[in-house]
Amino acid sequence: MTTTSRPPPPTTGTADGPDGREEVLRGGERVRLRAVRPADAGLLARGFDRLGAESRFRRFFTPLRSLSPSQLDLLSRVDHHDHEAIVAVIADRGVVDGVGVARFVRSRRRPGEAEVAVTVVDEWQRRGVGGLLLRALAERAVAEGVHRFTADALAVNTAVPRLFRALGPTATERAGSQVAVTVELSADVTACP
Ligand SMILES: CC(C)(COP(=O)(O)OP(=O)(O)OC[C@H]1O[C@@H](n2cnc3c(N)ncnc32)[C@H](O)[C@@H]1OP(=O)(O)O)[C@@H](O)C(=O)NCCC(=O)NCCS
Repeated sequence: MTTTSRPPPPTTGTADGPDGREEVLRGGERVRLRAVRPADAGLLARGFDRLGAESRFRRFFTPLRSLSPSQLDLLSRVDHHDHEAIVAVIADRGVVDGVGVARFVRSRRRPGEAEVAVTVVDEWQRRGVGGLLLRALAERAVAEGVHRFTADALAVNTAVPRLFRALGPTATERAGSQVAVTVELSADVTACP
């Protein structure tokens, strides 16, 4: 996966501004979705530490023990055009914690297409965070001229096609233990069910 070499635009936030927007989860918890900033390297590192072995493998396809400083730099220094990342943060008694992150990286060969990855820390999974993150990411993608998301996932990872189906018409192609998932983003992703 590579990115095009267009210079970064002056924007730094989601469609809602640099502080993002607040959403309420099914269980009533409040979560803030906002664009990732360079200063988030520590937040992302702490989030990685809270991922179980299975989640790490499902995300990175290798049993990663930690993220290196250069990986964290790459993951937190996004240009908001070819590479966008949205983080979900929870503020609890003054402590701000990252509970999930979703990103897209635009394909160099097909600029209307981008590869997606989404991760939610284990104790926050199955509460709707992944779905909210992907919806916010899809909104940003459409605004940046991306109309198709792709993702490679382990075939056992049935959450990925479910998440994609909420964004538009989805296709899956199995290749051994993995599945390639593609979704055509509706022009108005906010209107998706
Ligand atoms: C995949 C992942 C991001 C989902 O995040 P989440 O916050 O748990 O997802 P949500 O609660 O928004 O659920 C979204 C959908 O996925 C389904 N889902 C979530 N976890 C699931 C699981 N472990 N097994 C089956 N379905 C699952 C939910 O039922 C829901 O489906 P529905 O809308 O049809 O009811 C999260 O499990 C994760 O971080 N996994 C490890 C990393 C990973 O696999 N990343 C994907 C690689 S790109």
